[in-house]
Amino acid sequence: MRTIATITELRSALALLREQGKRVGFVPTMGALHEGHRSLVRLSKQQADVTVVSIFVNPAQFGPAEDFDRYPRMLETDAGILIEEEVEFLFAPAVDQIYPHGHDTRIYAGSIASRYEGARRPGHFDGVATVVSILFNIVQPQIAFFGQKDAQQLSVIRRMAGDLAIPVEIIAGPTIREADGLAMSSRNSYLSNAERMEAVGLFQTLIFVGELLLAGHPLEAAKLAGMDEFSRFAPHGMLDYLDIVHSETFQPMTSFERLEPGSTTIIIAATIGTTRLIDNIQV
Ligand code: PAF
Repeated sequence: MRTIATITELRSALALLREQGKRVGFVPTMGALHEGHRSLVRLSKQQADVTVVSIFVNPAQFGPAEDFDRYPRMLETDAGILIEEEVEFLFAPAVDQIYPHGHDTRIYAGSIASRYEGARRPGHFDGVATVVSILFNIVQPQIAFFGQKDAQQLSVIRRMAGDLAIPVEIIAGPTIREADGLAMSSRNSYLSNAERMEAVGLFQTLIFVGELLLAGHPLEAAKLAGMDEFSRFAPHGMLDYLDIVHSETFQPMTSFERLEPGSTTIIIAATIGTTRLIDNIQV
């Protein structure tokens, strides 16, 4: 694996491969890699000739009171994981490569970003869309891989790539879960043992609501029952939202009709201790 820190070096390495007709797959990450990232890398290895993974903790997507400073950074360990996965290129730029002095342009992430995570974390999705578009311009991948775990982010990125006519195919990788169902996330490392036990309540609530919907219960009743279920599973957790949305637009649904499997997403966000966690399932 070649680790590259500058745009110039990565561009010239990839230009050579592109001349040889190689298909470039791209997995953008913020590091602290876990099984979820590994699964995206494996998808890229299957579908592309060359895989580029970026590790960049993007300051533009963190609010002033968020965890940018304490976000786990472990470049050496991450590089070891990527070597095991036989990744060809690790792109690990410093902040001034991505946002050089005077950088002043932001992408506005639009209506998908106006609700849920976007409403709770103002500017978050603008920061995500901005960095992902910069990274797409640098790497120019034919295919890029994002986790279904961050379903709203995935929708924002799909829309951004479509609206800006960026010639990249966006592939969603399934959410990878611990044995008890907790979705893998770099932020799980913040949880104490007691919090970790309650954190599984997010997934259990999603499954519970999904079963109610599929059994024909009205949407509002299913949501209310889900809120109770969450308090039972995670008595010290603070539920932020539990909702049922259109998988592509993230518009809240008022009734549930299963037109095709996966067209509806049940989303949840909660704070356990001091850690904010999100999860979703599609029905
Ligand atoms: O999901 C993430 O890790 C980040 O939001 C991403 C897509 C790498 C952009 O910084």
